[in-house]
Amino acid sequence: MHQGNTGIRELPPAQPPLIWYEGNQDEFPELGGGGESAIAGPIFRKNDTYSKKLGLPDRFDGCWLIAEYARGWVKAVELNDKGEIQKIRPVLPTLRLGKPTNLKIGPKGRLHVLYYTKDDKGVLARVENKGATEGSIAPGLVMGLEAPPRQLRKSKEAWAGYQLMSKSDCLNCHQWTRTFVAPPYFEIAERYKADPSALETLTQKVLKGGVGVWGQIPMLPHPQHNEKQARTMVETILYLSQLKPKK
Ligand code: HEC
Repeated sequence: MHQGNTGIRELPPAQPPLIWYEGNQDEFPELGGGGESAIAGPIFRKNDTYSKKLGLPDRFDGCWLIAEYARGWVKAVELNDKGEIQKIRPVLPTLRLGKPTNLKIGPKGRLHVLYYTKDDKGVLARVENKGATEGSIAPGLVMGLEAPPRQLRKSKEAWAGYQLMSKSDCLNCHQWTRTFVAPPYFEIAERYKADPSALETLTQKVLKGGVGVWGQIPMLPHPQHNEKQARTMVETILYLSQLKPKK
């Protein structure tokens, strides 16, 4: 022991870990498979100073928030009074979060997640409660999303495409100006603005999914949409090349 160390000399006995894993393990199937870079976040405690509207819902009270850098998830571990694990669930079921590195509860009770995107940009995301429903730990939680560009409202067609996208899963992965899981819509519009076949190829891509144009993360197919809906959404995205992104 270093002589400058004035800390305790009698260490408390080692404790068995609450969660342990290596590769694809049987003990905690909820954690999936892949690399191992565990991130231990805070235990969420409800607090009257938190925002009722934005803060994590009360059912997170007592949950331990954990993340995985290599596997790209953030999960809530429900513990009982004895500190035993009851359930492990995703905090954001529909979202892959790049590579999370840190979790903190902010002053309003929102969860802040620091993570790297697929192209290694650092992002600080805020997870806030947008009407989570009873009975399940987090179905309504969404990321702090960018608002759609205001000028979209001026075009009836463009607004219709936006509404389809907001009801679908698009905005879980795409934002307007910021790289998220997926390329931002303004960048997509810019890339294809001189390409007359873009409307058709991108419509098919939304329907059938695909990978490799922007990076190694795939976009899954959207069999829930018909061609007309997909085309309306792509028209809205392409329309952005006529607008200026609000910085
Ligand atoms: C699970 C995340 C995810 C969701 C949900 C998602 N996308 Fe994507 N999207 C991506 C990724 C990742 C790419 C880049 C794919 C690539 O590199 O080829 C992409 C690419 C695109 C592109 C550009 C395609 C190209 O070839 O340049 C368009 C247009 C698009 N998405 C529209 C949509 C629309 C509309 C929806 C909703 C119906 C949607 N996306 C939902 C992840 C997603």
